[in-house]
Amino acid sequence: MNRKVTVVGGAGNVGATVARAIAQKELADVVIVDIAETKAAGVALDIYQSMPIEGSAARVLGVGTKDFAESASSDVVVITSGVPRKPGMSRDDLLAVNYKIMQDVTAEVVKHSPNCIIVPVANPLDAMSQAVYRLSAFPRERVIGMAGVLDSARMSTFIAMELNVSVENVSSFVLGGHGDTMVPLPRFSTVAGVPITELMSPERVRAICERTANGGAEITKLVGTSAWYAPGASAALMVEAILKDQKKIMPCSVFLQGEYGIRDLFVGVPVKLGARGVEQIIEITLTADEQAALHKSAGAVKELVDVIKV
Ligand code: 2OP
Repeated sequence: MNRKVTVVGGAGNVGATVARAIAQKELADVVIVDIAETKAAGVALDIYQSMPIEGSAARVLGVGTKDFAESASSDVVVITSGVPRKPGMSRDDLLAVNYKIMQDVTAEVVKHSPNCIIVPVANPLDAMSQAVYRLSAFPRERVIGMAGVLDSARMSTFIAMELNVSVENVSSFVLGGHGDTMVPLPRFSTVAGVPITELMSPERVRAICERTANGGAEITKLVGTSAWYAPGASAALMVEAILKDQKKIMPCSVFLQGEYGIRDLFVGVPVKLGARGVEQIIEITLTADEQAALHKSAGAVKELVDVIKV
């Protein structure tokens, strides 16, 4: 294939899920790079061997970090490296250790794929995205953090469960940082075009917003480590929008420069994703309460980026 996607940390749960989805959808050849060299080779071979069954011509290669050159000239690089959460940990607890990993990984990505689009997935998501943005010195259009797609997917699932409707009818809207302060927006969350505020009581709406904000912790508690199927599928959806130049609007963590009254900070907002990466930041008018919640969430991201000084 003539397109190439690298998944750094691709031997891990989230990384392997992203790699598999991209290969299965035949979006690109996939290179898995991981510090666990042997596992990277094995996971890649296993995914490659599923291609004849899936009917995809994508090639999949797995290498250790010393062979980063195999990722050269990737169109998109997804960074899933980093330590995942254990039960009881917040995403913020991962700050220092994952920042160090972002430093090592970003240098290699920039060296081998200077024109790529980077999709950071490591937590704490918004701070890690900002770290990668600063370290890479890429234009802001080419560093796009994965969070809002996942958070909205979780909200959509909870809405579908509550109303016993197909998830395909549901469209959800979540703004803000990927943490406890994220901002689910019920009035923009719809079932077949009808806002959920018309379809359920305020108490049920509130419960769904709360469950969405705690969606990652809920899985971590149940499984013993953080989620991977939905996070992996979310990153793959973003890669698809970029590689196919779909101009799809999705909530992503991007470097805001005055939009929504926020400056010099990665925060989740709706963006148009296409071949150039972020092609537009969509600004919608928020109520005073929504705006206050978004700024509170941005404040939580700012506290983290100030600690690592990015
Ligand atoms: C989650 O919310 C891993 O942050 C990710 O599950």
